[in-house]
Amino acid sequence: MLLHIPQVLAPQEISAMRQALDQADWTDGRETVGVQGAQVKRNEQLPDASPLREQLGQRILAALERNPLYFAAALPLRTVPPRFNRYQGGGEYGFHIDGSVMLTRAPDGRGQSIRSDVSCTLFLCEPDEYDGGELIISDTYGEHEVKLAAGDLVLYPSSSLHKVQPVTRGARLASFFWVQSMVRDDACRRLLFEMDTSLETLRATGADDAALVRLTGVYHNLLRRWAET
Ligand code: NI
Repeated sequence: MLLHIPQVLAPQEISAMRQALDQADWTDGRETVGVQGAQVKRNEQLPDASPLREQLGQRILAALERNPLYFAAALPLRTVPPRFNRYQGGGEYGFHIDGSVMLTRAPDGRGQSIRSDVSCTLFLCEPDEYDGGELIISDTYGEHEVKLAAGDLVLYPSSSLHKVQPVTRGARLASFFWVQSMVRDDACRRLLFEMDTSLETLRATGADDAALVRLTGVYHNLLRRWAET
């Protein structure tokens, strides 16, 4: 499932982040990929150990916690601390698939591995600030081109082949991260999402209470069957 989640960050949050990112020390994005990715990746990133990355990443995680649509779609169990990248001057990232298991530090400092089920990109620039930079996601239904407003997020299965088109004018700033979902299978996760959002609509439009209670039970019983925690 490919889903656009609008306005994850408010305009004031975005401008504060961009001010900080403008003064940050960026490094070559190839430092965080394997051999295959390094051949097609031309961008800059904030170093993983950067205190600014940590601080801005926390702000994004806090914003995600306030977002019910994100929760319904991702059903997050663990999240890789958000990273930040910048593409400019022809920078691009050719077709690749993200690593399947990421090693990170848990809050207690111990090493933790996170399986990437869901990939997320949070756009930090408006589309008219740069040319190119579309995120192209390729799945069984063809290629999807994504270039969203600042503060909006796209979520898609980490198993998808994807690329970022060359940025030929201006700069494209974004945050990106991966989620290990409670529900590993994308098709199951999608069914739960459809059911959850339909239940919301039924509740809001005054559907029969007893039927709603039973359907809500079905949602939770499916989640109970499929969730790994
Ligand atoms: Ni990627």
